[in-house]
Amino acid sequence: MPDRLTIADISLKNYKHNIAKILELVPTKVKVMAIVKANAYGHGIEHVAAAALEASASYIGIVSLGELKRIRNSGITAPTLILNYLDPASIPEAVQLDGSITVMDMAAVEAIQKAAATLSKKVNVHIKIDTGMHRAGCDPDKLLSLAQAVVDASHLELEGIFTHFAESETLDAAFTHQQLGVFNACIRTLEDKSIKPPLVHCANSAAILALPETHFTMVRPGLITYGLNPFPPEHAKHAFVTKHFKPVLSLKTQVAFIRTIEPGETVGYNRRWQAGRQSTVALLPIGYGDGYRRTPHNAGKVLVDGQYAPIIGSVAMDQTVVDITDIDGVSVGDEAILLGTQGDKIITTDNIAAAYGTINYEVVTALSDRISRHYLD
Ligand SMILES: Cc1ncc(COP(=O)(O)O)c(C=O)c1O
Repeated sequence: MPDRLTIADISLKNYKHNIAKILELVPTKVKVMAIVKANAYGHGIEHVAAAALEASASYIGIVSLGELKRIRNSGITAPTLILNYLDPASIPEAVQLDGSITVMDMAAVEAIQKAAATLSKKVNVHIKIDTGMHRAGCDPDKLLSLAQAVVDASHLELEGIFTHFAESETLDAAFTHQQLGVFNACIRTLEDKSIKPPLVHCANSAAILALPETHFTMVRPGLITYGLNPFPPEHAKHAFVTKHFKPVLSLKTQVAFIRTIEPGETVGYNRRWQAGRQSTVALLPIGYGDGYRRTPHNAGKVLVDGQYAPIIGSVAMDQTVVDITDIDGVSVGDEAILLGTQGDKIITTDNIAAAYGTINYEVVTALSDRISRHYLD
């Protein structure tokens, strides 16, 4: 029994459908690295990683030692790349757990070589190249010496090189092409010295769909594997995602309490909503402690008995109040959909993101571990 009535249903069937769709869209030999960082964008890292491999993804992408531990503790031995900077203190354990590790500088090469030699391990290393995002990665002009150092290190294997795009989902692809140009030049620089790492990767969800020339030998989808859309509505690929990818997560709770409010009475902290008429309001056991955001106030809606019920006042840590005055016959225990479908109506992650003024990535990733995940299939 979940200890609260608020549940995220996760359709692993839909997730596997999405991975299969990506495999269909890329050339046969191109591998898929399933990105499951941040608790698989809130969907549950262990279940999602296992489903990715069942659906023929070949690699798992994460960002920390903690995530690597969760992957390995769940019994997954598949290649798993830590895509980010790894602090030196975490390197020995990451090596012990057979993680593939990203390097961006000589210090990392030396630290990984040392840990690997001590543990008599061979470590797969991927070099991250900064092609324009200017967040992480080695400068292109330092790539050759770094790659040579990896090749020369007895306990390291240069398995991959990669980069990450800053805005591959936008209508104007000029900057993505610029980054791709830098990446291609980096590949040629290495090839000229006969350095040819087998895994060359840069495509996130948007690039996979919008720019096939970014596929190289592996792609790294995150968002579309969860059935969410990276593109703005005006992008030609937006409708393609809606048509071919299926949302994986829906969020539901139950009406816990119903009360009547008289005109002029207010609801919740700081009394941000005032009844303009006699109103019926329902309490839902979800709040910002679950990752269901507090601001903006008096914004957003849920589905109760097949109708939209507006959120009133401020979402509290554990509770949210909705106005059900215009919905007949609501009872305690009725299902309330916060994200997903009820009857012929829907609340999408994009709807919530728009109400919050953020992106769909953040809506699902924010869902805290207080919400039970139910794996449907
Ligand atoms: C290095 C890296 N690769 C791939 C991805 C997946 O991106 P998306 O979710 O847009 O497919 C991310 C996510 O931010 C990332 O940081």
